[in-house]
Amino acid sequence: MNKIPRHIAVIMDGNGRWAKQKGLPRAIGHQEGVKSLHEAVATGNDAGVKYLTAYTFSTENWFRPKHEVELLMKLMAIAADDERPGLIKNNVRVRTVGRLNDLPRNLQDAMARLVADTAKNTGLTLTLALSYGGRTEILDACRRAVEAGKAPQTEAEFGALLYDPSLPDPDLLIRTGGDRRISNYLLWQSAYTELYFTETLWPDFRKAELLAAIEDYAQRQRRFGRIDEE
Ligand code: IPE
Ligand code: IPE
Ligand code: MG
Repeated sequence: MNKIPRHIAVIMDGNGRWAKQKGLPRAIGHQEGVKSLHEAVATGNDAGVKYLTAYTFSTENWFRPKHEVELLMKLMAIAADDERPGLIKNNVRVRTVGRLNDLPRNLQDAMARLVADTAKNTGLTLTLALSYGGRTEILDACRRAVEAGKAPQTEAEFGALLYDPSLPDPDLLIRTGGDRRISNYLLWQSAYTELYFTETLWPDFRKAELLAAIEDYAQRQRRFGRIDEE
């Protein structure tokens, strides 16, 4: 298969609604969501996907009720530690993008451990977008350019100022949960990304659903503004 997307970005949406439908607390939906991400990493790795970038917590998510924000911070720190041995074993390299300094100290530390302990891995790169906003990323890049006293002259030079310059543009962006919007995700990087929206709620988005999205991507013709030669 030569049409495996090299980089899949995913907006993991619908955890709360999944829990509500089952009469369960939102926390359970988020916990099940961690399992879906675990499965997406394994499935993507096996399928030959090189980069998976997961929207884990947005700059806008800070405006949720305090108890929900605290719950998510706690769950992310637990998941980071729980998943670490498996990620190391499966050769997954973890990275982060976003304003990490906004996160509680213990979560910053858990993420730093995860990133450090997987830094030499050569399999799939899992990038966690944490306290991430596409506009904030562009703004931070502009501020960095000003600090360096040098205006970028090309798109490549601007791209080098983003949170992770080594991250290629996503080939495929998946959003679960039925809404059809970008919600401030990877605004610069997704200029020519293929979009895939599904009603499936994130906790139900497992191996078969990811493979279906990859299959859908394989049918698409990407033109990048050009004309097909065929
Ligand atoms: C996605 O699920 C997880 C985060 C945004 C952190 P939601 O919590 O947004 O679930 P819904 O959209 O309310 O169902
Ligand atoms: C997008 O989901 C952010 C994450 C999945 C982390 P939201 O639930 O925050 O998106 P909106 O508010 O419905 O656009
Ligand atoms: Mg949501």
